[in-house]
Amino acid sequence: HHAVEDVVNAFGRGEPVLIHDAADREGETDLVYPAGAVTPSAVARMRNDAGGLVCVALSDAVCETFGLPFAQDIIDHPVGTDPELEYDDRSSFSLTVNHRDTYTGITDADRSLTITQLAAATESPESFDFAHQFHAPGHVHLLRAAPELLSDRQGHTEFGVALAQAAGQPPAVVVCEMLDDDTGTERSPASARAYARHHDLVYVEGSDLIDRLT
Ligand code: 5RP
Ligand code: CA
Ligand code: ZN
Ligand code: ZN
Repeated sequence: HHAVEDVVNAFGRGEPVLIHDAADREGETDLVYPAGAVTPSAVARMRNDAGGLVCVALSDAVCETFGLPFAQDIIDHPVGTDPELEYDDRSSFSLTVNHRDTYTGITDADRSLTITQLAAATESPESFDFAHQFHAPGHVHLLRAAPELLSDRQGHTEFGVALAQAAGQPPAVVVCEMLDDDTGTERSPASARAYARHHDLVYVEGSDLIDRLT
């Protein structure tokens, strides 16, 4: 019996899980949901209990089909020059989007609609007109996973999409960093584990996912 089996099973049931990347990377724990399982109250939980940026990670194949680039490749402004990260080779940020049926895009109902429709879009990407359903800029950050997932990059983007694959979920997952309400810094692994225990959720170390899903 292992945390990875628990996390795959929970995710397969549409439950949120907590994933800590690594102490020598971001050192962050993200709250992660299959995008198709998100509801307005799940968005409320992400902004209240997690507090980070609400992002949807999509597989490389889906992004390729929808023509979704890495943001750093299309920013036509000097701020896009050599966007160096201290903890990884590159960011996974793509565009920001809203579903076209949203109003401002930021409310729990609006973000939930954008997120669930992103999951629906991955069902048959070839016949899906992405620009017909979504517009940019918007209030949900898209992340583009590396083609070979965890063998290429070990960020929450890849942990989330690899977990979806293992759990039989579509390649669209929401990730949101868990911040500490008192310090404003990332929640420590101990604090994230305590949150998971209190809410009956599964917490997993990225290293365990790498071991079992690559
Ligand atoms: C976007 C981020 C998060 O850390 C998110 O987990 C995606 O990034 P990565 O794949 O690099 O971990 O910064 O809010
Ligand atoms: Ca809070
Ligand atoms: Zn991350
Ligand atoms: Zn982060």
